[in-house]
Amino acid sequence: MRAVIPVAGFGTRLRPHTYTIPKVLLNVAGKPILAHILDSLIAEGIASVTIVVGHMGDQVEQYIRTHYPRLDAAFVEQTEPLGLGHAIWCARTTFGDEPILIILGDTIFDLDLTSLLEIPSNAIGVKHVDDPRRFGVVEVSDGVITRLVEKPQQPPSNLAIVGIYLVRDTQILVECLERLIAGDVRTKGEYQLTDALQCMVERGRRLIAFPIEGWYDCGKPETLLETNRFLLDRRMRAVAPPSDSIVLPPSYVAPTAILERSIVGPYATIGDGAVVRDSRVQNSIIGAGAVVTAALLNNSLVGMSATVCGSFHQLNVGDSSQINYA
Ligand code: UTP
Repeated sequence: MRAVIPVAGFGTRLRPHTYTIPKVLLNVAGKPILAHILDSLIAEGIASVTIVVGHMGDQVEQYIRTHYPRLDAAFVEQTEPLGLGHAIWCARTTFGDEPILIILGDTIFDLDLTSLLEIPSNAIGVKHVDDPRRFGVVEVSDGVITRLVEKPQQPPSNLAIVGIYLVRDTQILVECLERLIAGDVRTKGEYQLTDALQCMVERGRRLIAFPIEGWYDCGKPETLLETNRFLLDRRMRAVAPPSDSIVLPPSYVAPTAILERSIVGPYATIGDGAVVRDSRVQNSIIGAGAVVTAALLNNSLVGMSATVCGSFHQLNVGDSSQINYA
């Protein structure tokens, strides 16, 4: 079993952070998004991985080679992000006939991977959502997928495709992808994996809908912070604070971070070597090497080596006055 992780997108919704760091290397709850994915794969005994790289792919490759030297990792380049289907097509030379597990690079799953991998046919991770129009959507009969459609205006169901796919009929998938690309069949301008999976259904292949509850998107600032909250909650990794600061759990403070006269948390992730001084930081991710001084931060993302300098106010306020820094 080989995992295929496409990470070639630009991550535009997470700019400015993704101007300098690939989305998958952004820190959430103490380590990069990609590390969360790789660690859960390795825990499941999957040690062969294909990473589809593009935008700043050299950083991704360097990260994996440094931190996962024993992983059997293949890197293929998608020179232009022409869609998820195209990304998987670019990876085809690395997997031949063996089954593959495709996981989107910006999604963390909390699921029983063993049960998923035990399914003898193809299986697509799905979740019930209120408004499925911005997702791929599946129509299901007795657990078997009868139709897939990408970002439909009139969704046939509320079951959204969430970004984890077990493909056992690998060669059929590749043939379907070839067909899309050769015929220049695009949906919303891109070669969609959903369309290739629909082609598999049309060719009589069995695709099971695998319900997934624990699906944590990291693609936008709000969802990245939400995922940070979830992971910190789960791990409760509060670190003993230095005596003049307080860490409110759940939070993650890197051992090399420095806290001075500050309160961090709940839901704070403070990266390696970051300094937080005279500040209050909650529900925020502070990148490695960043310096935060005299700041009140909530719902914030601070990039690596960034500097945030607030100020203390001087007030001379009379009785019964009201001051609001809203
Ligand atoms: P997204 O569309 O969510 O990621 O694709 P993005 O394009 O990087 O982000 P935005 O929309 O610009 O903010 C989901 C995953 O699929 C990969 C992305 O890198 C991401 O990990 N992907 C997407 C590719 O590798 N190639 C593509 O052509 C499209």
